[in-house]
Amino acid sequence: MRKKFVSDKAFSKKKFLASVRLMGEGIKAYPLIFFCALFFIIVDSIVFTSIAIIVNKLITTLQTNQPIRFLFWDFNYIDWSIIGGCWYLFYIVLEFLTNIFASLFARKMEIYLRLKALKHLVEFDMNYYSKNQIGLTMSRVINDSSNAADAFNEFLINLIYSITSLITMTTLLFTIDVTVASIILVYFIVMIVVIWILFIYYRRSIIIAFDLRQKIDADITDRLISIRVIKSSGTENYEVDRAKELHKKYWVKAKTSVVYQTILNVFVGLFSWFMPIISILLVVWIHNDMESSKLSILIVSFSTACYNMLYGLLILPTAMRGLTRLSNCVMRLNYIYNAKSLIEFKVDGEVIEKVNKIEFKNVKFWYPDDSKKIILPNFDFVFEKGKRYALVGQSGVGKSTIARLLLRYYDVPSGEILIDGINIKDLKKADYLSRVGYVEQDPQILYGTIMDNLLYANFTKTKLEAIEASKKAKLHSFVLTLPDGYNTILGERGFIFSGGQKQRLVIARMILKNPEILILDEATSALDNIVEKEIKKELDNLMVGRTTIAIAHRLSTIKEFDQILVLDEEGISEVGTFNELKSKNGRFKKLYELSQIK
Ligand SMILES: Nc1ncnc2c1ncn2[C@@H]1O[C@H](COP(=O)(O)OP(=O)(O)O)[C@@H](O)[C@H]1O
Ligand SMILES: [Mg+2]
Repeated sequence: MRKKFVSDKAFSKKKFLASVRLMGEGIKAYPLIFFCALFFIIVDSIVFTSIAIIVNKLITTLQTNQPIRFLFWDFNYIDWSIIGGCWYLFYIVLEFLTNIFASLFARKMEIYLRLKALKHLVEFDMNYYSKNQIGLTMSRVINDSSNAADAFNEFLINLIYSITSLITMTTLLFTIDVTVASIILVYFIVMIVVIWILFIYYRRSIIIAFDLRQKIDADITDRLISIRVIKSSGTENYEVDRAKELHKKYWVKAKTSVVYQTILNVFVGLFSWFMPIISILLVVWIHNDMESSKLSILIVSFSTACYNMLYGLLILPTAMRGLTRLSNCVMRLNYIYNAKSLIEFKVDGEVIEKVNKIEFKNVKFWYPDDSKKIILPNFDFVFEKGKRYALVGQSGVGKSTIARLLLRYYDVPSGEILIDGINIKDLKKADYLSRVGYVEQDPQILYGTIMDNLLYANFTKTKLEAIEASKKAKLHSFVLTLPDGYNTILGERGFIFSGGQKQRLVIARMILKNPEILILDEATSALDNIVEKEIKKELDNLMVGRTTIAIAHRLSTIKEFDQILVLDEEGISEVGTFNELKSKNGRFKKLYELSQIK
């Protein structure tokens, strides 16, 4: 059975330590801002709570008309008023500095967490993306990074304030009257225990509700990513109903968390206001024989100290909520940070001069998530430099898989792929891929201008060179018909290229790249016959002197190839030139005859 809610596991030390570790990383990255923030928070909280002490002195001097000795001087009520006023101004300045530095640190932390997530996300292998919802991943990156940073602030500031005011005020109470202070302290501890218990329930409910909402967010994002399926099926109403159903569950969980939150708030509010009242009653009861003027001083001192302690108590749940939010955000972010990529990229991998030979040695391949279905049972072949190879075979036989292996989307679980005798795993990936040009059936276009797309991964090339390549790929004249030409924005929110236009763009990018190895996976499948013929000429020119591995959708396009590999479920069933294979009575001949009928 599926675990109900992963994050619903009890508040564990592990989760707490994970938060500490992650926040520690952020602090290490921005120590100056953090320590400024920490310094101001501490000073600010001390200054704030000591206002109560000054008020206490002021009232005493007013009542008794006697100056009070502080350090080396005697201060009367005027002095205490001035000190109080200055202290208050000082507090305002500190408040300002605390807020600025704490918020700055939170934003730095957020940026740190986001960049860390992005680094992991681009480095993951393709398997991560076939397994995980993009919506959920993005919702984690977006929400959890900013929430974690804010929650850390919420936790730290409130905790420090709470602790400072509790400590200073308890001390103050004890210096005034030990008996009353002890009783109040016991009351206080009971309160904290009750709040803690209530808080555990509240926390549980809020995590469940939050998890559910995040799953719904992810679901909706993914649905919208596939909007074309919805539009072409006319299932708008179905989607609305589906979302309603999902939200019904959220509503149930949200209600529970609201109830707990209200109980917690009302309890804290109601009972904590009893404390000053209790303290006054206690003072009056215990000191009923005291002079009334002294008694009133005592009452005022006790109630101010109690109010301050209350403040410390009232913000305690906020600090705890911050900690919970923090540890949950960190836990969800850690799904990204701790996910292991199946493919390891060597930082100090080998760099080769030239690619002379690509060798598949006893390669057996299955996809990581589906080890029962063997895609390539035994692929054993050497691709030589400068020659043109074509892969043909029925759809689903594993042609594109071979291209993906050469791009290192996946590593082979058995056998080896050797580039000039070096295992592809030991090569420096970026250097190796800079030698490979790849065009696929449905190429991806980045959000950006046509020129941005042409120059992507061709960062050293000039715009003029890009336009030259675009001419060769038969893209140029089309681009000129667009009002913004090469500055036209492409992508989902920009101008949408047709399948054929995308292929031409990617072919232009490959021509510009000028790679040693060409991998063409049905590269011209989306083009009409006329354009295909024109581009074929350019591609043929490009292929001269380069190792080409082309997956052909039309057998007529591979007549001049050096070798054609015919694939079936058992592996390579035939190898030869077009004419050799056509004259054999094998699988290729059948494929050819079938293609002629079409
Ligand atoms: N990421 C994946 N995980 C599991 N199976 C996959 C994955 N990608 C492709 N396959 C399966 O591998 C087989 C070969 O796919 P592919 O190489 O794309 O075939 P084709 O020869 O048509 O290019 C197909 O049956 C496909 O379902
Ligand atoms: Mg394919």
